[in-house]
Amino acid sequence: MMRSHTCGELRSADVGRRVTLCGWVQTVRDHGGLIFMDLRDRHGVSQVVFDPKDSREAWDTAQSTRTEYVARVAGVVEARPPDMVNPKLATGEIEVRANEITILNRARTPPFPLDDEEAERVSEELRMAHRYLDLRRPKMARRLMLRHAMAQAARAYLDRAGFIEIETPILTKSTPEGARDYLVPSRVNPGLFYALPQAPQQYKQLLMIAGMDRYFQLARCFRDEDLRADRQPEFTQIDIEMSFVQPDDIMALTDGLVAEMARAAGRPVPALPLPRMTYAEAMDRYGSDKPDLRFGMAIENVSDIFRDSGFKVFAEAVRRGDVVKAVNAEGLAGIPIRVADEWTAFAKDCGLAGLAHIRVQDDGAWKSPIVKFFSEGERSALTERLNIRPGDLILFAADRPERANVALGKLRLLAGEMAGAMEGKPFAFTWVTEFPLLERDEEGRLSSMHHPFTAPMAEDLPRLDSDPLSVRAQAYDLVLDGVELGGGSIRIHDPELQTRMFRALGLADREIESRFGHLIRALEYGAPPHGGLAIGFDRLAMLMAGASSIRDVIAFPKNQKAMDLLMGAPDRVDARQLRDIHWGLADGAAAE
Ligand code: AMO
Ligand code: AMP
Repeated sequence: MMRSHTCGELRSADVGRRVTLCGWVQTVRDHGGLIFMDLRDRHGVSQVVFDPKDSREAWDTAQSTRTEYVARVAGVVEARPPDMVNPKLATGEIEVRANEITILNRARTPPFPLDDEEAERVSEELRMAHRYLDLRRPKMARRLMLRHAMAQAARAYLDRAGFIEIETPILTKSTPEGARDYLVPSRVNPGLFYALPQAPQQYKQLLMIAGMDRYFQLARCFRDEDLRADRQPEFTQIDIEMSFVQPDDIMALTDGLVAEMARAAGRPVPALPLPRMTYAEAMDRYGSDKPDLRFGMAIENVSDIFRDSGFKVFAEAVRRGDVVKAVNAEGLAGIPIRVADEWTAFAKDCGLAGLAHIRVQDDGAWKSPIVKFFSEGERSALTERLNIRPGDLILFAADRPERANVALGKLRLLAGEMAGAMEGKPFAFTWVTEFPLLERDEEGRLSSMHHPFTAPMAEDLPRLDSDPLSVRAQAYDLVLDGVELGGGSIRIHDPELQTRMFRALGLADREIESRFGHLIRALEYGAPPHGGLAIGFDRLAMLMAGASSIRDVIAFPKNQKAMDLLMGAPDRVDARQLRDIHWGLADGAAAE
């Protein structure tokens, strides 16, 4: 070994020891004869002092170093004088008095400062193009180490619970997980393509049929979709599947898993069991299937209060069978008119006819063009239902329930943000259960809300053909702070029901055979009841690290245009490579 310790390791107990450190030169300062050098590695920073009286040669070399040079120093650990102790550094009580230094490598001046605060002021693109430098920053290094600790905790927990880790193919067949596939042309099968897996969904089900009964994998998934702060084209799932289980079993197992990972990340461990609510409740109260429960401002149904109101917009809505719903944006009575106008415009973009609001002034008076139509009874009922206090802002939507919920749900988030209601709050986990099995896509066709292997709730199954949209699934999502962290379901294990499901989704029998024949056949050979889930590991790591993008917890992420700016991928390839893969021969007919 070239070093005896890391740069983050030495403490006052080490005083008097002779040590050797290796690392990157963070700073060199000449203090009237003494040279102070901060030497950094991913473990921390140590202060090294060179005195020309100890070694003139070492002092000369130290003076010639520049930031990011790689150096090896040897010397004796000394206690810092009390007034020089740096409480911000783990090694702040000591310094290394060095009489030897070797420059192991030199470095060009970095294109941006590797200081946590300053680096965050330069463009992310520049940092991504030099990711190896960005990862030297203590904050980034800590994030990768936190991710590692979480992964280790997950593996240990699942191993203890009797799960086995099994790798599944990356070169595979198109899977219906809802995004576009990344395709890989086959050289030996001209005109045919592999797809990279959007998730190991079918393989894990096949493993249950194979009798593996408890599977997990830290699985790489690939989805060609539009990218956002919490979406990358390739990402990692903690993918889980179990046989002979019900939704409760999977949720309870996941509760423990998430708690273990929070502990490993050094974050507050949530109380278990994690709370649960149904999809219907989440939509009704928060207008979202991933409710942010760090704050209140829930959506209230006030239709009953305004059934016979003098305010006709509300009374007529109730008569039509629509709803009147309201949110108390607590403390926001003073929002500027400009913001109120923006919110009204936003509500209209969401399809609402209008967004009535009341500003509750500090003296308790209600300021609004609509309250003159309210009766005393309506006012007091509203006050009680919404717990209205001076300084509150009340927002109303009168519309079809889905539209009112979704619009108010989004406004609730804007209001929460404006009020700073999410800041400094403990983690707010929730399960959302009993998702609808199906939804209509933009073209009006039925599609699976989770995926087509998800089992319907038994009591709803009789309505699969007559009223498909009313059928609930044995599906559940795990939500943290308004982010969809994971999702799963109990699967269909009956081949006939699986075929019926594909037909309900509008697949012709020929298509069912060509795309899913392998799965139907497998189900025919004794498939156990099974289910599972997948946690978006990058998202969990992001939230545990307090980062705002999953890019911050991925060593080599892609940018918004799905490019790896460091490697320069995607890239052109040469003509021979294209010939090899029969480029231009994309027509499936070529294979026949
Ligand atoms: P699902 O498609 O819901 O389920 O994915 C599970 C979780 O993966 C994360 N995730 C992503 N993270 C980063 N970038 C992306 N592009 C991205 N897409 C999804 C989310 C999500 O909750 N096979 C099923 C699971 C199952 O049924 O067991 C599946 O993949 O956190
Ligand atoms: P109007 O009577 O159309 O002038 O509307 C009076 C107030 O009610 C305005 O603030 C409108 O934005 C609001 N409003 C109108 N329609 C709706 C609706 N469907 N839901 C909520 N508020 C509405």
